[in-house]
Amino acid sequence: MNSDDSFYISTPIFYVNDRPHIGHIYTATIADIVARRQRMIGREVFFLTGTDEHAAKVVDAASDRGLSTRAWADQNAGAFRKAFQDFGISNDDFIRTSEQRHIEFVEKVVSDLEATGDVYLGQYEGWYDVSQEEYVPESRAKEHEFCSPVTRKPLVRRAEENYFFRLSEYSKPMLELLERNPDFVKPEARKNEVIGRIKEGLADVPISRTGGGDWGVSFPGNPKHMIYVWIDALLNYASAIDLDRRRHYWPATVHLIAKDILWFHAVIWPSLLMAISKARGNEWLSVPNTVYAHSFWISEGQKMSKSLGNFIDLEQLHGYKERFGLDALRFFFATQGPLDTMDGDFSRSRFIEVYNSDLANTVGNSWNRIVNMTRRYCAGRLNRKVDGEGLGAELERIASKKPQDSLGVGYVSHGVEMIKAIDSYIQETQPFKLAKDASNSSQVEEILYRCAEAYRIASLYLWPALTEKMTEVWYRSGLLSYTEVLKNRGSGDLEQWTAWGGLSEGTELLEGPALFPRYSEE
Ligand code: MSP
Repeated sequence: MNSDDSFYISTPIFYVNDRPHIGHIYTATIADIVARRQRMIGREVFFLTGTDEHAAKVVDAASDRGLSTRAWADQNAGAFRKAFQDFGISNDDFIRTSEQRHIEFVEKVVSDLEATGDVYLGQYEGWYDVSQEEYVPESRAKEHEFCSPVTRKPLVRRAEENYFFRLSEYSKPMLELLERNPDFVKPEARKNEVIGRIKEGLADVPISRTGGGDWGVSFPGNPKHMIYVWIDALLNYASAIDLDRRRHYWPATVHLIAKDILWFHAVIWPSLLMAISKARGNEWLSVPNTVYAHSFWISEGQKMSKSLGNFIDLEQLHGYKERFGLDALRFFFATQGPLDTMDGDFSRSRFIEVYNSDLANTVGNSWNRIVNMTRRYCAGRLNRKVDGEGLGAELERIASKKPQDSLGVGYVSHGVEMIKAIDSYIQETQPFKLAKDASNSSQVEEILYRCAEAYRIASLYLWPALTEKMTEVWYRSGLLSYTEVLKNRGSGDLEQWTAWGGLSEGTELLEGPALFPRYSEE
């Protein structure tokens, strides 16, 4: 069991047949926001991402370009690593399935499972979805007119001698797991889909292939067989844990994925883990706490595709980053993304609308007003430290609301609401009017302290998404030590930080360029 204060979050490991796009950056950003918030509340976080390299489509894509598979995989793994750095992802490790540490682990696990009979040699014939690297059951193949349910590419008939994983044994344990742990699959509606499909029956699944070349992990003791890419891939979550050094992080707190790969994570992966526990003794590798499956981004109202020209690739994301700042993109992902069961539409006009209303007019403008008034009426300093009367209770009300998603990404919106509350407070108390009469000076000082202090509290809610700009706010209000605290993971205490009164009397608020300048298309 993991220690109570540890928090292990993963993204899927991404195929290296092509370069990263919005979907990959989105999942990584959401995981990053969750990881940062967890570090902030004092958990010891392990945040894992990486690349899935042994897929047939990687081999094909490389040969289309006249490159060796290794060279193409290296190039794209590098592109993912770089993209995650460029987009502020704070992962603690980056695993590639072509690494020795991973390959050795996969071989060990597969040998163990063969020894207990959970893996056995048999015959398989069925419909194969090359684009998704998976077999599609007869009924589902028929339902989708023998095309991929995901990509619509034609399925191919495949027959082969395979090693199988005895998934059929795990229907009952799986249903019990879903019953026992209601948070195992999130959101709720996804869990019901999974339960429905398990009840239709689980068949054993092939976990090896022959004749597809030697790019992959060969089956221990029978090198004619290569281990199926999905079994190889799922095991990354355990191989990266390096069981001696990072054991205390296990089991995973959240595997964050999208709906396309839910079945593998919600059914095959826990069944595999139960089988491994059987081989190694219980609790060696227990099942994750939660598999969270978000939905998809579509673009300008349609499924993204290169031929439609609405595909949001890395270059475009860089374009948004340059024009609006990285924080704006992260904020859009956090507040407008497909975190629940509905797909999200990424449109430029919506992006600009959200940027202007939430970031320029609210988060940025409110800070600007507070600093300007403080400089104009109080020589730039918060001269009077007071309680939160008129504002504190409202902040507490907002803070006590549970965010809609179980990951806590919704806390980012709490930050925006708090800033709206500051704006209403300014509207009600009218410090700019009071300041016209010198006898009101202490009242003005009180109001401005309250605004700045409330903004400080809001900044802590916003920081996991708006990391650059809120760090800037901390700099401008003498709180740069926060960043030091956040660098030492596990030492933050959000309750203490968000308690009223963090800004000390005499704090100077520094002027600076607008946090989020208003954007207009001209
Ligand atoms: N390699 C497998 C995963 C193995 S995990 C043990 C794989 N890779 S992938 O490169 O295809 O990435 C799929 C994931 O990318 C999705 O689950 C999701 O996290 C992300 N997205 C890909 N397209 C997406 C959208 N259009 N919208 C949102 N996220 C999407 O599957």
